[in-house]
Amino acid sequence: MTDIIGIDDEAVARAAKVLGEGGLVAIPTETVYGLAADATNGLAVARIFEAKGRPRFNPLICHVSNPGMAERFVEIDPVSRRLIDAFWPGPLTLVLPLKSSAEVHPLVTAGLSTLALRMPRGPAAEVIATLDRPLAAPSANTSGRISATTAEAVAEDLGGKVDLILDAGPCPVGLESTIIKVEGDAISLLRPGGLPAEEIEALTGKRLKRADQRAAIEAPGMLASHYAPRAGMRLNARELAPGEALLAFGPSRAKGAENAARTLNLSETGNLREAAVHLFDYMKKLDQTGAATIAVEPIPHDGLGEAINDRLARAAAPRS
Ligand code: TXA
Ligand code: MG
Repeated sequence: MTDIIGIDDEAVARAAKVLGEGGLVAIPTETVYGLAADATNGLAVARIFEAKGRPRFNPLICHVSNPGMAERFVEIDPVSRRLIDAFWPGPLTLVLPLKSSAEVHPLVTAGLSTLALRMPRGPAAEVIATLDRPLAAPSANTSGRISATTAEAVAEDLGGKVDLILDAGPCPVGLESTIIKVEGDAISLLRPGGLPAEEIEALTGKRLKRADQRAAIEAPGMLASHYAPRAGMRLNARELAPGEALLAFGPSRAKGAENAARTLNLSETGNLREAAVHLFDYMKKLDQTGAATIAVEPIPHDGLGEAINDRLARAAAPRS
């Protein structure tokens, strides 16, 4: 079984060593746990796809320890620069033109001429700084499953397939990073996530272009039926059918909630940030009840609600 170790200087050094030798390490970030490999080592990156069972054409996010490190790999336009200054370290990923000199393996970008980059908060940045190489890291879960927000969830899903798991407790944000791409005068939102789009709009004074069908292909991790639990998902439920499990939100309950197989409330007070932190964990726990359907109470679409509803819609999408 894979070792799970708490964060201290020794753990950071051990993780950097394993990564430097081409190993896989599950690393906590503020968003979700990442399944990390040295982004300059093609064999190591290939192991990520293997461990996740993920289609190869899906490009990965690269993680750096500071903005200066990003300049080694990408060209940074003035708008992206402002966003980096404002929001790094944090749950914001920028898709930027790859420099021809970049020592990033093509498996990371799936052959694209752009690279998705972010600087995570917390121990991941220390590991990257120690290694002094970028880390490719998708969420640490089997492809199509719920993203892991605790070391235990990683161990349950990927134990035996990773060399080491660093444990820093539950991820404070609980949702993957927001992905954007600056294109001339426009900014596209490729994936809503842990940084509310409104905060980017407030800083730049521009309304983000929301992902349409074409953007969904550009970010293939966003295909429908991603994040799918085994149970069916029924969204915007105001009434509960017998036998359903209930993913609740806020202080008031759906009709018939007292008969739920199990109820978990994303946030009793209706706080979207708290709801984001619990989302994947509660979907998984309700799935484990064996209920055929998880009913989900309505969740507002503002702030982090956009990303939460996006993940729920994917979980509810018809399975392929
Ligand atoms: O919070 C996060 O972002 C987590 C943690 C571990 O950092 N990482 C994460 O990575 O969610 P991943 O690999 O699961 O998601 C990468 C997403 C995919 O939808 C992928 O298609 C998109 O980013 N992506 C990567 N490179 C891209 C590029 N060059 N252009 C457009 N989309 C890209
Ligand atoms: Mg993922």
